[in-house]
Amino acid sequence: MDRKEIIEAIVQKYSQLGENPDTYLQGLLHAKPITYWDYIQVDTLLSLQNPRTPFVDEEIFIIYHQVTELVLKLISHEIKQICGECSPTEAEVGERITRANRYTSMLITSFAVMKDGMDYDDYNTFRLSLAPASGFQSVQFRQIELMCTRLPNLINSEGRKRMPAYPSIEDYFEHIYWRDAGMDRATGKKTLTLEQFESRYKPGLVQLAHQMQGNTLEEKVAALHALSPELKEKLKRFDRFYNIEWPKVHLQTARHYLDAKGEEKAATGGSAWKRYLHPMYQQRKFFPSLYTAQELQDWGRDDKEG
Ligand code: HEM
Repeated sequence: MDRKEIIEAIVQKYSQLGENPDTYLQGLLHAKPITYWDYIQVDTLLSLQNPRTPFVDEEIFIIYHQVTELVLKLISHEIKQICGECSPTEAEVGERITRANRYTSMLITSFAVMKDGMDYDDYNTFRLSLAPASGFQSVQFRQIELMCTRLPNLINSEGRKRMPAYPSIEDYFEHIYWRDAGMDRATGKKTLTLEQFESRYKPGLVQLAHQMQGNTLEEKVAALHALSPELKEKLKRFDRFYNIEWPKVHLQTARHYLDAKGEEKAATGGSAWKRYLHPMYQQRKFFPSLYTAQELQDWGRDDKEG
């Protein structure tokens, strides 16, 4: 396009909107050139780290959680594009899952920032000022699960024993695996961490689950005519990254700080974390139909890749 064509296209665009193109062309004369800092909102972004204690490593802890939330937003963005399409093609799904794998891999390979990057004693002191907050309360983590897979896949084998024969969405939420982190099933008593999380987010999550009925990534994939071995491999990698490898580096970090000397310190969220955080306990899988019986049985086992 030469300059004349560009101006004509602008004139046409605003004329079609019923606006006077000259107003907009003159407006351009006075518009300030965009800057990196305004566009990226650097000042706002860098003003969001507010440690609660004087320990310098607390800032690392906050920033790394924020980085994770942004990366979860990238993953969520890709999954939403697939789920929002009526009939996504194999190529579209493949491209977006490749991106999701790239993002999830960032989370796995960078987790050493937590495990090896903070002073052990300082962490174990400042974390006490953060109770009852816990990464457990990350809502994006749950939204991704609900977009990726059908609710039955978020119920572990103990939960399945408790489920009614024809469960409603609300029944699934009653027995969903992650409530095990904060609920005594015998008494129904909940930790403050779970209580806070559910009162803030449960209605929105239930609504999301309703919207996702028939539209989860798992169901979009099942609707493809044939699944190529390449796409199958990409999906399995995503499942493994999100549901085995990230949980494992996260659990190793919890062990490093909370159980290095076999003392099993209480977590800020108050869960029986050693058991709960293990992928074998959670049994969370997005695409169970892609696995052999053996692969399902070995899911998350320490000596297998799942
Ligand atoms: C020193 C670093 C960390 C330690 C020691 C740690 C420890 C824990 C523990 C013990 C739990 C179980 C819930 C509880 O009782 O609090 C938990 C849950 C969780 N944490 Fe962390 N965490 C760390 C860093 C992070 C980071 C950086 C994130 C990123 C957002 C994160 C996200 C989560 C999530 C999503 C859960 C729930 C997991 C699930 O339900 O499967 N954690 N964490």
